[in-house]
Amino acid sequence: MVLISWYSSSSNSSFPIINSSQISSGDERYQLEFQELLKTLPKEDGWKSDFLYQHQGFWGQPRLLLSSEACQKQFQAYDTDVLLATQPKSGTTWLKALAFAIANRKRYALSSHPLLLSISHKLVPFIEHGTSNDEVADHHQISNNYPSSQSQRVLSTHLPYASLPKSAKTSACPIVYLCRNPKDTFVSKWHYMSKIGSEDFGSLSIERAHDLYCRGVSLFGPFWKHILGYWEASLESPKKILFLTYEEMKEDTEYQVKRLAKHMGCPFSTEEENKGIIQDIIKLCSFENLKKLEESRENISIKDDDDDYTVFYRKGVVGDWVNYLTPQMAERLDQVTKEKLHDHGFPMFKD
Ligand code: A3P
Repeated sequence: MVLISWYSSSSNSSFPIINSSQISSGDERYQLEFQELLKTLPKEDGWKSDFLYQHQGFWGQPRLLLSSEACQKQFQAYDTDVLLATQPKSGTTWLKALAFAIANRKRYALSSHPLLLSISHKLVPFIEHGTSNDEVADHHQISNNYPSSQSQRVLSTHLPYASLPKSAKTSACPIVYLCRNPKDTFVSKWHYMSKIGSEDFGSLSIERAHDLYCRGVSLFGPFWKHILGYWEASLESPKKILFLTYEEMKEDTEYQVKRLAKHMGCPFSTEEENKGIIQDIIKLCSFENLKKLEESRENISIKDDDDDYTVFYRKGVVGDWVNYLTPQMAERLDQVTKEKLHDHGFPMFKD
């Protein structure tokens, strides 16, 4: 059993071995250039064993930065796609499940739904990642297997807005951004990284992780830059980018799911509403249901791989940070949020 992570490498090497054929057709020169570039980039301790490097304004491991570049070069968005954007641990798994269920609601009966068999990450791929720890995304495949069916292609990304592939911005493909209170995101991330990190690196103290997070050093971070990038873009192009928060989704899931479906270009009809389809989708994608499904798959090993995806379901509540952050830690993170977000006009997460 392997605890799954798309964000961290268990390798101790500062530069992972990448099969060039996975990036493009054998572009070894490109990789060598990238290795040279790495030597010039700002470098910080990672949350676990890897170093993080800052490139294009965000932090990532070399493999991630390289595959992100490949994504920018090769990924082609279609007008009919929908792209879900998040920072890690802000509700990606949930958003993917909901969007997949919405887009495919005419295709699958609830009794034989793909979400009963697979975690949403397998149904909605990251454009900048492969679907397993050791793969780099095959962008040719993601781009070329379309249209494989009549349904909408639902894709996801953790890339900051500024680093999205050009076609994702210029096409009519709707973008949905989900963000979450930084304190809860941090706590969720710390738990996750503590579980999936490499054992030989020792345990990750919350104090150390907190310091890195407050300084902006986290995958795809600084967190404030990620949020502001999508927030400002959503103000400029509200028809293109829907900005959601985890907290609002929890508070009134039905209302937000309707907004989501409308933004995706497939609003619920009155008939569907009357039939209770929205409630069915919400129930299917609820934390309790998805967690239970994943645990039972794990227990009886009915999966096509050895990965443990239960790590994506912890508590699924708002405000859990109070159980982990000292008043001083909360205050420091609040101060960073104020300076970097609120002082720049971002109106949410003020309490
Ligand atoms: P907690 O660690 O606070 O419980 P991501 O999907 O971006 O990795 O985020 C993971 C967080 O979302 C975890 O938060 C997880 O429990 C929560 N989560 C996962 N599935 C969810 C669902 N269906 N509904 C609500 N929260 C969910």
